[in-house]
Amino acid sequence: MTVANIYLITSGKGGTGKSSLTALLGRALADRGRSALLIELDSGLRGLDMMLGVSDQVVFDLGDLLTGRCRPTEAITVIPTPEGNLHYIAAAVDPDLRPSAEELSRLLSGFGSYFDYILLDSPAGMGEVPEAAAPLCTAALLVTQAQPVCVRDAAALMARLRRQGLKSQRLIINAFMPRQLRQGFLDLDEVIDLVGAQLIGVVPQDPALAEAMATGQPLGKKAAAYPAITAIAARLEGEYVPLKAVK
Ligand SMILES: Nc1ncnc2c1ncn2[C@@H]1O[C@H](COP(=O)(O)OP(=O)(O)OP(=O)(O)O)[C@@H](O)[C@H]1O
Ligand SMILES: [Mg+2]
Repeated sequence: MTVANIYLITSGKGGTGKSSLTALLGRALADRGRSALLIELDSGLRGLDMMLGVSDQVVFDLGDLLTGRCRPTEAITVIPTPEGNLHYIAAAVDPDLRPSAEELSRLLSGFGSYFDYILLDSPAGMGEVPEAAAPLCTAALLVTQAQPVCVRDAAALMARLRRQGLKSQRLIINAFMPRQLRQGFLDLDEVIDLVGAQLIGVVPQDPALAEAMATGQPLGKKAAAYPAITAIAARLEGEYVPLKAVK
């Protein structure tokens, strides 16, 4: 029986911050005492291991699990956190080893009863993997930045995933910049209207976030992006956290 809330972290364009937000939301949910499993679906393009600071600890990966070279528990790397409740399965090293719809379904129903949350770090854009994952998820968290091209691709992806059976979707606008640096970018309302998904959070552009991801460290509580990340985690848990006015 699946009990986990499963979120597909996805985007139309690449490099919008999916993996960073997977790592940060995983840590934020773990800080709230929830157990979380982060599964990296980006075959051949592993990155979450570095963002989580465990690149030297990963022994088996999703490819090993799918091909029966390890048991499910062996594919999991435990991320050092105060409660030991954050877990990670690394992407297959082999770019051709992508989970099929059946494999994903088995994987999620198998792990679903052991975790409160499963976050799927999707490859960017359309493709077999996000389309297979879409109907299996509680919701997609669509990560976009406010550039027009990014937003257009986000809207196209969302429409496609809905056609594939996605039940629900929430929007994260990432790397949002202050007004004076935003020439040529869309305003928040325009992004929300164009994508047609309810906003769950706006994460500012923050060098401290990029540094935390580069060094595999948790984001410091004083970082500009910290309150935005903790607010998204709280909203995922059904708490009402008002969106701060963004200038
Ligand atoms: N809010 C932010 N502020 C500053 N830097 C950010 C922010 N979000 C992400 N970054 C940086 O942007 C880069 C791309 O992020 P990330 O790898 O998470 O994107 P992605 O969507 O997973 O990319 P891909 O599509 O290649 O998988 C990274 O260097 C990351 O540190
Ligand atoms: Mg990524």
